[in-house]
Amino acid sequence: MEIRGKKTLITGAASGIGRATALMMADRGARLFLTDINPEGLEGVCSEIEERGGEVCLARVLDVSDYQAMKSLAADIHSEFGPLDILANVAGVALFSQVEDMTHDQWERIVNVNLWGPYHGIECFVPEMVRAGRGGHILSVSSTAGIIGLPWHVAYAGTKHALVGSSEVLLFDLKKHNIGVTVVLPGAVNTGLVQTTVINADADACEKSRQLFSRHALPPERVGELIVNAIEKNRFMVITSLDIKLLYFLKRTFPPAYRMVLRFMTWGMDRTLTRKTFPGPA
Ligand SMILES: NC(=O)c1ccc[n+]([C@@H]2O[C@H](COP(=O)([O-])OP(=O)(O)OC[C@H]3O[C@@H](n4cnc5c(N)ncnc54)[C@H](O)[C@@H]3O)[C@@H](O)[C@H]2O)c1
Repeated sequence: MEIRGKKTLITGAASGIGRATALMMADRGARLFLTDINPEGLEGVCSEIEERGGEVCLARVLDVSDYQAMKSLAADIHSEFGPLDILANVAGVALFSQVEDMTHDQWERIVNVNLWGPYHGIECFVPEMVRAGRGGHILSVSSTAGIIGLPWHVAYAGTKHALVGSSEVLLFDLKKHNIGVTVVLPGAVNTGLVQTTVINADADACEKSRQLFSRHALPPERVGELIVNAIEKNRFMVITSLDIKLLYFLKRTFPPAYRMVLRFMTWGMDRTLTRKTFPGPA
């Protein structure tokens, strides 16, 4: 789909992948509607876009897990600008934890932001796109944890797997309306998330795992580029790193080897985050 002139909503636009996508979409001539829970970050990205000659039609600070806030954003956009052309659900939060260390608030936050957030976007904006009959595109940022059972990701992986499943249904359901669907599965990306991910482990272990993570992380601009490309070329699944592509291939073609890799990954994570010596993968 041609991006120029398209009305595009991006959630989580203040930082990382959302910010990079917003800048790239602005450079391609999209008319942007940007949201985030972080007011300073949102203001910063809007100024950057305007300095580059891009168009921000509306920016609003909101929590994507708040249905009333999303509903009122949709009402305002629809009454002033009409239906969207492109919806990009990017906002998300992360948590690394063993299941026995998680509080109920942590479970709830992950589900509310990562699952209800995108569902609110789809519920509030897609029916209007369908009724308008002008086609469009819906994109949701899932994660490697959306296709692989990453250790220490029990709640996060649940929400991200759900996004892959719902995106697959929408891919076929919305085809007749000429609305394309993309689900993005990033590996490690060097964004604000590296620092804000809650890790239920001691401070030294957290620091070590943040360093390990950022060492092999992609810059968010690269993921923004892949996202814009996927919308333009109408690609369904975007896996951002080769190692994840290989692991996903292994999962589908040779499950015993996949299970062995996961046992090693779990053992490695356990060792890094609990700093205990384990005899080897269980
Ligand atoms: N960084 C990675 O390695 C990585 C890997 C896989 C998937 N992802 C996914 O990519 C997406 C973007 O994350 P990122 O890496 O750019 O992180 P980031 O922290 O840089 O950006 C996330 C943005 O979402 C916003 N946000 C958080 N909670 C919100 C809420 N309740 N309502 C509205 N906005 C909210 C934050 O303020 C922030 O601006 C997330 O869905 C994340 O799960 C990231």
